[in-house]
Amino acid sequence: MMSVKKAVFPVAGLGTRFRPVTSVVPKEMLPIVDKPLIDYAIEEAVDAGITDLIFVVSPDKHIIVKYLSDKGNIEAIFEGKENENEASRLNIEFVFQNEPLGLGHAVLCAQEVVGADPFAVLLPDDLVVSEVSCLAQMVDKYGEVGGNFIAVVEVEPQQTHMYGMLKVDEYLNGLLKVTAMVEKPSIEKAPSNFAIVGRYILDAGIFETLRQQGTGSGRELQLTEAMDTLLLQQDFYGLRFSGVRYDCGEKVGLLEANIACFLGRPDLSMRAQKVVERFALSSLENGEDK
Ligand code: UTP
Repeated sequence: MMSVKKAVFPVAGLGTRFRPVTSVVPKEMLPIVDKPLIDYAIEEAVDAGITDLIFVVSPDKHIIVKYLSDKGNIEAIFEGKENENEASRLNIEFVFQNEPLGLGHAVLCAQEVVGADPFAVLLPDDLVVSEVSCLAQMVDKYGEVGGNFIAVVEVEPQQTHMYGMLKVDEYLNGLLKVTAMVEKPSIEKAPSNFAIVGRYILDAGIFETLRQQGTGSGRELQLTEAMDTLLLQQDFYGLRFSGVRYDCGEKVGLLEANIACFLGRPDLSMRAQKVVERFALSSLENGEDK
């Protein structure tokens, strides 16, 4: 089985939910404590053995290209870590998505650079806090069974309209065998409460499927739809990884991720905890828990 060395980071979306700030700062550059979201995804990928990082950027987001083209910024992510030396050996490439035609289209833009190898996709606005990198957990299981992989979490029934949702059968060793996928279904149409997290390992066959799917007029090219087609020919597994996912594409999710990461920082946790406690206390006093 081929190892996974390439990762695609689609970062060309509009970020409308964070307007107006995203009219000047791309969503993927929003801070979690003192680092942009994108740093966390890069760290997770490299911890999983990724050596080739492919960023799908929009022509308007030159800030991302500038930031990632500075080697010092990449090296800073790994400062003091075991894999510190690997940072200088990473291959970083940029691919342009000229129009935001959807996540599927963004992935398709990377076809030439990815070639025929299996590859990972990481959406930086999903932040996963875990002891072992979420993608590393997926690469590990992929090494055992192959196929295609999706990270999954269970969500509340009233949240299904926010995510790609999976229909699954139980498989070996806690893996889920995916039998269908549907993008943002209503509570009634959701096939389960297993939601897709923005971490994938995909066979290069997905490119042909995306191409055949095409965009209807004005329609976005959806990755979930293409995966749902490809699963008729190839195996897809869902991994319930160990760790916590924060949906930073959404305002309160970004706040939650910040609280978690502030509390996890030895240099800031004491002060951050006091602030959180003060807010919790004042909401109790104001009876806001009722
Ligand atoms: P989202 O749908 O969450 O991002 O896409 P968005 O469209 O930027 O945000 P909203 O919904 O308008 O607030 C998930 C990921 O896919 C990328 C985004 O940058 C994000 O990382 N994406 C999305 C692209 O690269 N290109 C697209 O055409 C769409």
